[in-house]
Amino acid sequence: MKICFATNNTNKIYEVQNLLGDSVELVSLESIGCFEELPETQDTIPANSAQKAQYVWQHFGVPCFADDSGLEVEALNGAPGVHSAYYGGLPRNNDNNIALLLSNLESHTNRNAQFRTCITLVTKHGEWQFEGTIQGTILSDKRGEKGFGYDPVFMPQGYDKTFAEMEIEQKNTISHRAIAVKKFIEFLQKNLNLL
Ligand code: IMP
Repeated sequence: MKICFATNNTNKIYEVQNLLGDSVELVSLESIGCFEELPETQDTIPANSAQKAQYVWQHFGVPCFADDSGLEVEALNGAPGVHSAYYGGLPRNNDNNIALLLSNLESHTNRNAQFRTCITLVTKHGEWQFEGTIQGTILSDKRGEKGFGYDPVFMPQGYDKTFAEMEIEQKNTISHRAIAVKKFIEFLQKNLNLL
């Protein structure tokens, strides 16, 4: 069973293929001939994820799924949210994003945050969405070298390591993306006829 994962982020392809095992073979955008930047112009994480998956389906006719994720910080009214990737300005830069986040949080004692992922699957039979969230806190300083994005300052609830201090396997068992992917896989296994 082959599905296109509509992303150019090789970290995510690696993470999700790890979670999928052999049940589904992921094919890249490149392998279906899609070399353009996918549109991501919506205001919400679910709408952005649907926009990307629909784009691939409509232009290439391949069953596909797209994910969209972001960090939502309580004291910042949900920011950076859909702007997570370029919060600190363009071009996208993780260090600038983290620096702005920490600076905006300096005067706040409430450090609660969550990562959110929405996956949208599109096939000839329709569109389905799957969500995952993980709660945590934003530290005042970076810790750890693994992962990507805001991982060095995000400590998930119930753990004493940031995402960037965890092995990828450990992050993969608890992350927002892992939760959304698990829901997605469970759905696929029960509904292979939809592909
Ligand atoms: P995307 O929609 O999955 O590309 O995520 C948008 C942005 O949210 C990324 O560029 C990161 O800044 C942030 N983000 C999403 N997932 C993670 C994660 O697992 N760890 C750290 N940052 C993340």
